[in-house]
This record gives sequence, structure tokens and C-alpha cells, in this order.
Amino acid sequence: FLTIDDFDIEDRTILVRVDLNSPMDPEGGILDDMRIHSHIPTLRDLEDAKVVLLAHQSRPGKNDFSTMEAHSRIMSGYLGRKVTYIDDIFGTYARSSISEMKKGDVILLENVRFYSEESLKRPVDEQQRTHMVRQLSPLFDIFLNDAFAVSHRSQLSIVGFTGLLPSGAGRLMEREITALNKSLQGNECPCIFVLGGAKVDDSIKVAENVLSSGGADRVLVTGVVANVMLAASGVDIGEPNMKFIESQGYLDQIDRAKEVLEKFEGKIGLPRDAALNDNGTRIDVKIEEVASKNLPINDIGLETIVAYSSEIENAKTVVLNGPAGVAELDGFEIGTFEIIKAAANSGYSIAGGGHITAEVRNIGYEEQFSHISTGGGACIDFLAGDELPGIEALKVAAKRYQETE
Ligand code: 3PG
Repeated sequence: FLTIDDFDIEDRTILVRVDLNSPMDPEGGILDDMRIHSHIPTLRDLEDAKVVLLAHQSRPGKNDFSTMEAHSRIMSGYLGRKVTYIDDIFGTYARSSISEMKKGDVILLENVRFYSEESLKRPVDEQQRTHMVRQLSPLFDIFLNDAFAVSHRSQLSIVGFTGLLPSGAGRLMEREITALNKSLQGNECPCIFVLGGAKVDDSIKVAENVLSSGGADRVLVTGVVANVMLAASGVDIGEPNMKFIESQGYLDQIDRAKEVLEKFEGKIGLPRDAALNDNGTRIDVKIEEVASKNLPINDIGLETIVAYSSEIENAKTVVLNGPAGVAELDGFEIGTFEIIKAAANSGYSIAGGGHITAEVRNIGYEEQFSHISTGGGACIDFLAGDELPGIEALKVAAKRYQETE
């Protein structure tokens, strides 16, 4: 694909899809700004252009689904220039603001997921015909995708503009692909994927992919992913935990998990104990005792931590995705921290995903990791050998551009 170096950017109006999706507190404060900071090299290389940033924060229905205002403030601080927040995506206000831009200006448009069509995953040609693309694309000379972290989604703002505008990758996209490719080339065995967090559907798919392709020898599960796998393996995880899975819309994943567990018998490690949250107090119990306590699981248990850590430390390659528990709660961060420490002691370590990489930085371990990816799902999909729609769309765009130039 093309990069910034392939275009004359002087005075051009450039649409840049970035991924600023960050962990946020209930008051709307940004808890970790790594993703915001990671796009600064791209913006520095576009100083002579007019730059319009398009980004999302969370998903509809989630607590941290918010405007992009806080992000624009943090970005202005890092860039040392104003990043103007416009509370509109492609309406008259957004379009007139873009038309009035001068060289060196940077605008951040509103959370693109406020517009419902954004969340539909469709092929490039369909995304290209949408209202947003038709309204915005005439205003731009170039489209850059710097949002590696969401390039595993065939969403409108990722693939919709690449068919119409000369398109290329931003600096962060380049850096991620180079680092992850390097890790794939040096991929030594045993390789372990530790899949946690709450994006259960993505994680089950990746577990299946990496175990089928031989990309991983073992998968260890933590977080909500582990609870779904435990339920699939016949363990009664109790009402609060089943209710949580239901509230996240993941009940149907239990059957999927069952198939994957059967297909890869012995290759998926499940927790043998769990830390329950009893009004803020951590109680470690054996997995068979979870149901009778009727309390939510908020971390993997101590026995599991010891067993997982020793497996992880002895691995040559470790990929961490998603926290092991509710790491922001006092006492329930132990699993996540210990797994991070064990991974740092392994041969080659990669961490991906907003929450776990924030914890890596919290405990000052970033230097000890071989690569910290801004991507969560995108990182594990890439490492699992999947083609990412956002990257594929850039390849097609490059071919078209080279044929017409
Ligand atoms: C992420 O946080 O992994 C990316 O921003 C993509 O977010 P999504 O999983 O809500 O599409």
C-alpha cells in the first residue's frame, strides 16, 4: 500500500481515520491516552496540509460511548497546536468548517459511531455509496488510514473512502504492521496466546484461528472469555456471571466455545479457581465452588495465576490480549499484573488492546515488552493470519492509484 511519502501533501485537505478509542472513567475523563499519543508522528508529517481526523469512542450502548471533545484537548497538548473539536460528522457545520480550513489546521470530527451506518460491516463498494462518504469525499484530496486498531472492521470510515480518494497508510499503521510482521517472522515455539477481556466473540474466533493455523501452541483464557469457556465446558459459574454474559449479548457464544473446546482438546487452558467480589473484598475459591457463592467473578484465582505464569514465562512467544479481570478494582488487578510480569519474562512478548496495555504502563513494564500494539482485536487478528479489511482496502486503492498516475 501507499504511505504519506507517496503523496504531495502541501496544502492538501486530508481525511485521516485515527483510532482514539480510550478507556474512560464514568465522568468522561480519559484514563489512558496511548492511542491519542500514538498518532502524533502522523500529524507531524502532515503539518503542511489541512488535516481532518475521523475517530470513534466505544460502541453505542456502552458507558464510555462519548463525544470526542476530551480527546481533542489531549491531542492538542501532545501536538502543541490546536486540534479543533467539531461536534458534527458530515452535516453542514462539519462541511463548512472543513471548507474554511487553512494550511496547518487540524480538526477532529465527532464520534463517527454516533452515525448508525458506521457500525454496519459491509463490503467496500456498499460503504462507498453511503451518505457519509458521498457528503465528505468531495471535500478531500487524500484519505489516510492510521487506525490500525480498528482495521479489522469493514466499517464505513475504514473502507468507505478508499475506493474514491487516493488512499494510503499513516505512520502508526506502518509502524504496527512492521512490528507485528517482525514478530511473525521470529515466531518461536512454544507460542501462547492469553485471551481475556470482554470481547468474547472476537477472542473465540482468534482462539480457533491460531490453534488451527498452528500460530499458537496453547491458548490460555481469562476474563469474561474464560467465564464463557468455563460455562461451555460444563462448569456452573453461578447466576451473576451467567447474567453478565447474557447482558453483554454473549449467551450464543457458549455453544461456539463448546465446539472450539472439543476441537482443540487440551490446547485451551481454563482457570481452576476464581476471585469473587464480595462487596469489594476478594475471595479466592475453587472453580467448583463458584456457583454456590452466588458472586461475580472479577479476576482469575491465585492458583490459576501461578499455573498460567509458569507456562507463560517458559514460552518463547507470548501474545497478551485483554485483562484477566476487573483490573481497575482494588484487589482484582493481581491476575492481570502477574500475567503481564510473566509475559515480560518470556522470549518475545506482545501486548495488544486498550485495557491491558494501559495496565502494562501502569506498572511500568512497557520497556520490557517486545511490542505494545495499539490494536486489540486488530492485533490478534493480524497475528492469527487474518486479512484485515482496512489494510486490504488500502492495497486495492494503491493498485488503482498506480494504474491511473
Ligand atoms: C478497539 O478498541 O479494539 C478498537 O478501537 C475497535 O473497537 P471495537 O472493538 O469497538 O470495534
